[in-house]
Amino acid sequence: MTALPEGFLWGASSSPHQIEGGNINSDWWVYEQRSPHFTLSGDAIDSYHRYEEDMRLLAAAGLTAYRFGIEWARVEPLPGEFSRAELFHYRKMIDTALSLGLTPVVTLHHFTSPRWFIEEGGWLGTTAIDRFSSYVRRVCEILDGVEWVCTINEPNMFAFMILMARTINSDAVPEIDTPTMQGEGGFVLPRPLPETSRRLVEAHHAARAIVRELTPAKVGWTTANLALYAESKADEPALLDERYAREDIFLEGARGDDFLGVQAYSTQAVNARGPVPHPEHPDNTLVGTPYRPDALEHAVRHAWKITRGVPILVTENGIATADDGRRIAYTEDALRGLAAAMEDGIDVRGYLHWSALDNFEWGHWEPTFGLIAVDRTTFKRTPKPSLAWLGEKAKTGMM
Ligand code: FCB
Repeated sequence: MTALPEGFLWGASSSPHQIEGGNINSDWWVYEQRSPHFTLSGDAIDSYHRYEEDMRLLAAAGLTAYRFGIEWARVEPLPGEFSRAELFHYRKMIDTALSLGLTPVVTLHHFTSPRWFIEEGGWLGTTAIDRFSSYVRRVCEILDGVEWVCTINEPNMFAFMILMARTINSDAVPEIDTPTMQGEGGFVLPRPLPETSRRLVEAHHAARAIVRELTPAKVGWTTANLALYAESKADEPALLDERYAREDIFLEGARGDDFLGVQAYSTQAVNARGPVPHPEHPDNTLVGTPYRPDALEHAVRHAWKITRGVPILVTENGIATADDGRRIAYTEDALRGLAAAMEDGIDVRGYLHWSALDNFEWGHWEPTFGLIAVDRTTFKRTPKPSLAWLGEKAKTGMM
């Protein structure tokens, strides 16, 4: 057992589009309607209205932190037009978390952008940094008491959605199944284009400077930590090349941050042709990835090396499964690896499980990652045994 540092956070994560419902001004609302591969987010799980109940369940189990996001498309429904009512809404969420003893970890951008922003030219357009910066400035007005701010979620996965965004101004249909599932056909996400990666690093640094200017919060971004490995010795050069473009460029972008949000689920082999599609296997998770709880330790060690020692907050780790016993087994193992990395001196400030609730998995409802089940007809929440189990861990102060 590893004793944990004072203030170590134990919590769960969410993102606005996946839980709120009715996010009608966002680009994803459009993609969902266009793509034959996606189902609609619709009401999602109505957390826009039920966030207090969600937070109460987490706090009652013993968790001490909740990561949630602010939806840009709500806060700025038209260019330069900010909604005070929506800013108040998110302020109320922060107050609710604080009053329940949950440390809020607030994400400013989690995959979705306002539809108008994409139509105007989006992330590669000339107005991108200014638009994002002015949104971040407004949000900083409501962040009093927030200690942890994540600017952009998973720029490396998001880079791929920027390719999808090209379809918004045309009749083209997004060809993509989903960013977070690796279904049939050995689908592997394309590599982020260098100009996209550079732009996202620039946006992160701009937001970081604003958050630092206007708040005392710790600021960082959250990356998809892919735990890539070479299929054979001969594939090591390919590994370095792929890993740089898909992950390390973003970890380098975290140097100088107050923390890095590490997000790890599985591992992936690389050979000279690139990432190797995951073979079918009975142990694969509901998003088609191998069952690899060791991914977290691998991810944390690699991130620590490339960022040159930026403190780590695990902001996502979990498994898509219908078997909650398996979720507990996976998490137990992942935490063992995390503890080993901490024993070696890696500075980890907390562990936030993905996800608080079963939710809209970017076009799909079947992959269930939640500690809490949700009936989507009645919106009734039912905590799973894994929630109580994680809450007990939190109470022991040990890992
Ligand atoms: C991550 C995303 C998160 C969720 C999990 C399963 O890539 O940040 O929104 O989809 O994967």
